[in-house]
Amino acid sequence: MSDKPIALKVFRFDPAIDRAPRYENYQVPWREGLLLLCALEYVRDHLDETLAFRDYCCGCSWCSSCVMTVDGKGIRTCSRPLYPGESLVVEPMRGFPVIKDLAVDFGVTVATPEGTYRKMEGTIIRKEKRS
Ligand code: FES
Repeated sequence: MSDKPIALKVFRFDPAIDRAPRYENYQVPWREGLLLLCALEYVRDHLDETLAFRDYCCGCSWCSSCVMTVDGKGIRTCSRPLYPGESLVVEPMRGFPVIKDLAVDFGVTVATPEGTYRKMEGTIIRKEKRS
């Protein structure tokens, strides 16, 4: 199997200092079992310590704290496997205020194209799915 790196185009924005969002490109070495949230940890730990995102909470697709918009769709990044040579655009979850980069404020109820999300006991759960 190929060991081509993963190419991530990542949304960057700090509302406290930036006038407008931008995108940064990162290359992450692929390995068997690599998940998207692990790839973001690699970026933060090895390439750019300023990247902000919500790290693992449950790590098992339950709490939804790791949801982000990936290639235009809202997904749980802790359960998204990566494949050699993949290229992905990673953005904050749509509809939520950006705190910094990929970290958003989930303290509200928001309707998105992927469904309605609401805060409940510190976690975010999907309330309903739109047709
Ligand atoms: S960390 Fe809980 S669903 Fe991803």
